[in-house]
Parts: sequence; C-alpha cells; structure tokens
Amino acid sequence: MKVVILNGPNLNLLGSREPEVYGSATLDDLERQITDWARSLGVEVSFLQSNHEGDLVEAIHAAAGAEGIVINPGALTHTSRAIGDALYSVATPAVEVHISNVRERESWRAVSLVSPACVRTIYGRGVGGYRDAIRHLVNRAAVPHETRRYGPHPDNVGDLRLPSSGMAGLAVLVHGGFWRQEYERDSTETLAVDLAQRGWATWNVEYRRLGGNGGWPGSGQDVKLALDYIRQAPEVAAATPAVIGHSAGGHLALWAVNRSSAQTVGPTVGLAAVTDLTALAASGGPGSGEAKRLLAAGAPPALEAPPSTLLVHGEEDELVPVLHSTRLADTARVELFPALGHFDLLDPTREHWSTVFAALENAGN
Ligand code: DQA
Repeated sequence: MKVVILNGPNLNLLGSREPEVYGSATLDDLERQITDWARSLGVEVSFLQSNHEGDLVEAIHAAAGAEGIVINPGALTHTSRAIGDALYSVATPAVEVHISNVRERESWRAVSLVSPACVRTIYGRGVGGYRDAIRHLVNRAAVPHETRRYGPHPDNVGDLRLPSSGMAGLAVLVHGGFWRQEYERDSTETLAVDLAQRGWATWNVEYRRLGGNGGWPGSGQDVKLALDYIRQAPEVAAATPAVIGHSAGGHLALWAVNRSSAQTVGPTVGLAAVTDLTALAASGGPGSGEAKRLLAAGAPPALEAPPSTLLVHGEEDELVPVLHSTRLADTARVELFPALGHFDLLDPTREHWSTVFAALENAGN
C-alpha cells in the first residue's frame, strides 16, 4: 500500500516552532519515525512539506494513484477551500492530522474546511497521530465497514463490519482514551479487522466523551445505547454479543453490560480495563484528572465484573496498573501477560489475543 504524507505551512519548523505545543521532534525526525511506523504496517510512504497552498493542491492531484493520503494542512486547514476541493477531486481516501488539540485552542482552530473531504480527522495525539492515520487507512482497506447511527448525538455512531458469508459471532468493541475527546474508535479498529477476517461481525462504537457532552453519565449511557442498538440491526439482531473494552472503554463496557439483561450479552472482555476510578484518581498520573471529573459527576467508584468476564492485562502497563484487573480475581477470570504494555493489547498479533479469541469462541457465539 502506498500513502502520501503531506505537511503544510510552518511544519518545516517543527522542533523549534512552539515546542510546548508541537513537541521537540523536527520534520526530519518525524518523517523518519513515520517511515518506521509505515514499514511495520506494510506501507510505503512518500513525503512533501510545502508552505504554499498550490503545491499542496498539486500534490493531492498527483496522489490520485496512491492508496491513501495523510495531510496536516497547518493553518490552511482553517482557510483553504482549495485544499478541501482538491481532496474531493481525487478518489484517494485522506486522513487529516493535527499534532495539537485544535479543539482546545483558539476557537478558529476548531474550524476545518478540510475535514468534510477526509475519511477521518485525528488531532491532539502529538506526532503519534500520523501513525494512527496510516493505521486507519490500512484497516479501511483491509475490511470494508458501514458507519451506522445508534442515537441522536453526532458521536452516537459505530462501524459495522460484516463477514462476507456466515457469521461466527458478534463482538462489540469499546475504545479507550481516558474518556477524552481526542481519542476515538480508530484505536480498536485493528482488533475489529482481525475478528472480521476470522468470520466475526464487529460493531466498533463511538460515544460522547469529555469535552463533547460526554463524561458521566453521557459516555456510559451511549455505550449502553450502542449495545441496545444491536436488536435493531437486522443483520446482527439475533446474535449474543461479546463485548470487548480497552482501558476506559473497559470501564464503560463493564458498566453498560452490568445494566443489560444477561440473556442479551455474552462474555465481557476487559483489555487493561479501568475498573476502579478512585484508584485512578488517586494515582495522580494520566487519567487521574478525568477520573476525578467522572467521580464528581456521580460515576460508580469501583465496578463489579459481569458474569463471564475475562480481564486481560499486560504487566508492563504504565497507564492502567494490573490491580484494576486483579482486584476482581474472585469474580472474573484474570490473565496477566508479563511482556505486554497498555497499547500492545490493541495488537492482534501479540500473545494475549489467542486467549481472548478462545474465550469468545468457547462462549458459543
Ligand atoms: C496544526 C494546527 C493548526 O491550527 C496550525 O496552524 C498548524 C499545525 C497542528 O498540527 O496541530 O500549523 O495543524
């Protein structure tokens, strides 16, 4: 797969330009890093950075033969109809990337004239957003999906992937990201694609998050609504869904499954699931501020494990310590993996995944 990486005005100054906003990596560092990420995803990348709108327009035209475009248009994001039109003019899917959190800076940065022409917008994840953009292009190309709406809010959507014939089971995926707006369902997509390739239908759900009407109780209510939607989707209505949640998505999954009838929900899998908001809040580390906000809004401090729960945790996890899983060892099956970190659990080529998949299959879906 070939992907063209385009960077717009002022991104040649990465490393020295407002490092407190954009970080210390130079454009060269970034391009080297992207080349490595792309190689591990089986992608060949080419690069262009330009401070001129017309150069970027022409590079988009020239990318018509590639399988994907990743574009950070810099400030042209907020002004350039020409870049938006150029992206509309080619069939190549494009992902828009911003290093900084453009939704939490000056209000004019929250406006993008480019987003409508892109298949996804990734922002506020630092330079890692470029890796996530390439991964999204790879996953889109691997297995087609249909985005369905399950509720009234724009974030009440999910991606449904259906096997081409038969259906081994249905898995609902709930992504993590400490309930924060900038983390979306693309993180669980690689798992969804793997399951789809094994004949499983998947429903990879979005939900409202902190900063976008979510938090508590909105995020939890949305995940419950997304589970309830299954009964209205004729292709999967008869299935007993397995529910897999990663990190904060594990917290939402456990909470929502506990509120659904046992007959309608199959096994629940927590991948580095947050199960104890009080402990997360007290940790003072990443996610502690968000945990405090959820607790202040009335979220349950500690969750119980629903029946047939498997909690999988990497012992190298530096974001969500294993105690979030081991505290529930009396009521759930807990599997620890010594060499895995927090995000390794999103990679179906790692050693935990055969345990997870066996649990789904054994549940007789
Ligand atoms: C940017 C955000 C834009 O608002 C800004 O003009 C940039 C960089 C980012 O990567 O965060 O130049 O696109």
